[in-house]
Amino acid sequence: MRQVIVAGNWKMNASKETVNTLVMGILAGMADVKSKVIVCAPAPYMSQVEALITHSQLNLGAQDLNVNASGAFTGEVSADMIKDFGAQYVIVGHSERRSLYGETDDVVAHKVQVALDNGLTPLFCIGETLDERESGNMENVVSLQIQAVIDLVGIEAFKNIIIAYEPVWAIGTGVTATPQQAQDAHAFIRSMLAQNNADIAQTCSILYGGSMNPGNATELLGCEDIDGGLIGGASLKSDDFLQICKAG
Ligand code: PGA
Repeated sequence: MRQVIVAGNWKMNASKETVNTLVMGILAGMADVKSKVIVCAPAPYMSQVEALITHSQLNLGAQDLNVNASGAFTGEVSADMIKDFGAQYVIVGHSERRSLYGETDDVVAHKVQVALDNGLTPLFCIGETLDERESGNMENVVSLQIQAVIDLVGIEAFKNIIIAYEPVWAIGTGVTATPQQAQDAHAFIRSMLAQNNADIAQTCSILYGGSMNPGNATELLGCEDIDGGLIGGASLKSDDFLQICKAG
């Protein structure tokens, strides 16, 4: 049985004050949450979150990492820096990184590898654009995204990878994939993993992301192959986020 995982992706939304209110609000409602809960904070706030979540069930993640260990990479954040703040997770290959910062499947695969090499669990994001879906290419796009990682780190490494299927057309748009669309994509992803290793396919967590909210979470999380959610907008309000955490 795969444990439900709910991860909040705050993106570039935070201030010291809002981080305090948000994390305290989440912590106040965690007692009856059975899912594993992760918050992925912007780098400048990781220290603040680390201090707030000490001795709680809440887990910390980062939103991206650089593949280099250290050096002249202005503005970048390394795996060691992420771990320095007690984070165990890092989002890799979010569609915003792919589309706005030119991260190719190969770049993303390299980042997955570096995260794993450093003992971080990547939240490895995949998903198709609207054009790709409408032209019947969803499976092809998602396959290539996954295959790039399998080619670099091998299927066994998926023991330590969390996949997040996030159709680009559903991210931040308020348009959610229907439970059937999401389930079909997740089943396809799992079947692709199974072609490589049936056991890994059964244990690998595949989260759905894209306008998940308290109103649709129960139905989405009820689908056989949906093991949790990667939540953007609705992770910025503790009540909404907690409702999603409790829906799983
Ligand atoms: P959204 O974002 O929930 O605001 O659609 C999800 C994500 O980008 O991870």
